[in-house]
Amino acid sequence: MSRPILFSPIQIGNLKLDNRIVIAPMAQYSAEDGQMNEWHLIHLGQLASSGAALLTIEATAVTPEGRNTPGDVGLYSDDCEAAMARVLRGVRRWSDMPIGIQLNHAGRKASRQKSWEGGAQISPGQPNGWPTYGPSSLAFASGEIPPIALDRDGLAAIRNAFASAARRASRLGLAFIQILGAHGYLLHEFLSPLSNQRSDEYGGSLENRMRFPLEVFEAVRDAFSHDRPVTMRVSATDWVEGGWSIEETIAFVDALQRRGCAAVNVSSGGSSPAQQIPIGPGYQVPLARAVKQATNLPVIAVGLITEFEQAEAILGTGDADLIALARAVLYNPRWPWHAAAHFGVQIKAPNQYLRSQPHRIRNLFV
Ligand SMILES: Cc1cc2nc3c(=O)[nH]c(=O)nc-3n(C[C@H](O)[C@H](O)[C@H](O)COP(=O)(O)O)c2cc1C
Repeated sequence: MSRPILFSPIQIGNLKLDNRIVIAPMAQYSAEDGQMNEWHLIHLGQLASSGAALLTIEATAVTPEGRNTPGDVGLYSDDCEAAMARVLRGVRRWSDMPIGIQLNHAGRKASRQKSWEGGAQISPGQPNGWPTYGPSSLAFASGEIPPIALDRDGLAAIRNAFASAARRASRLGLAFIQILGAHGYLLHEFLSPLSNQRSDEYGGSLENRMRFPLEVFEAVRDAFSHDRPVTMRVSATDWVEGGWSIEETIAFVDALQRRGCAAVNVSSGGSSPAQQIPIGPGYQVPLARAVKQATNLPVIAVGLITEFEQAEAILGTGDADLIALARAVLYNPRWPWHAAAHFGVQIKAPNQYLRSQPHRIRNLFV
């Protein structure tokens, strides 16, 4: 049997990966003042011993107001950086899995309750609430307080905050940055005509709507170690008539590639409560395929990829170059081991766990 593509190596920029399994960013809403703590050591630690090729730290805010919830991780202060350094030191002592970070500004979707508290907007007057910012003063959902439309100084400050977080990520030795340009957060809000109704050079035409996200990409690319990749996560459609579309996504990816983007992670939705998402196994794979056909950047597919053969088929048909897992790997952090056992290939495991190999499986661990 030839080696499954899922377990064949690939490179993203200079970053060499052992296999095609990426752990998607997963917000834990458990930081305090943007600072990671023991929970993040437990969470990232277990995922770093999973055998996946790459681990992505959750959406990390570049300013305090850019946090989606009061529990979001941030990388906007020396204290945030020191807290992340402590967690990374712990994880890296026992795992050599490359760890990257997703940088974000939550825009008009900032100042919300944690998901398990309901996710409602927290108004600026309430404890733990703050004013939100967006391209235009348009609320995400009816009845919500609209964001403050960003002026030039506000845009420059956020661009600088992304660059500053990228410099901190460099110092922390993070292997890559993924910028969050999806899920209805600030950069996606600029892209989507549903949330961006500006009449200046940052709104209107596709070129104008892409301007701020591209400026942020350039600022991050410039600030992060030049030998390490910067990538982007996109929502390839808003799933709303008149919203951001796959055609516009392809134009955006092309513009990113010309600026040195190293890979694109294809997600969808998040811009509007009116979205109609056809949820089912691999529901975002057709979007990844459309992007893949239009670019030669490595493309990462994500979204209800749960089965080993399904993952292999996505790679085998050339719909994507890598697959990312969120819920499936949270549910079963040994998913990559089980996939390796299924395909009869070897995978890395911590020495402490080598004795876990069941008798019926031979030579599972490298
Ligand atoms: C607990 C949890 C937290 C998440 N946090 C983030 C996040 O921080 N950034 C992001 O871009 N997506 C986030 N997502 C979305 C996932 O990265 C992923 O795109 C989505 O869950 C679909 O993949 P899945 O079907 O494998 O879960 C989160 C999903 C879950 C389940």
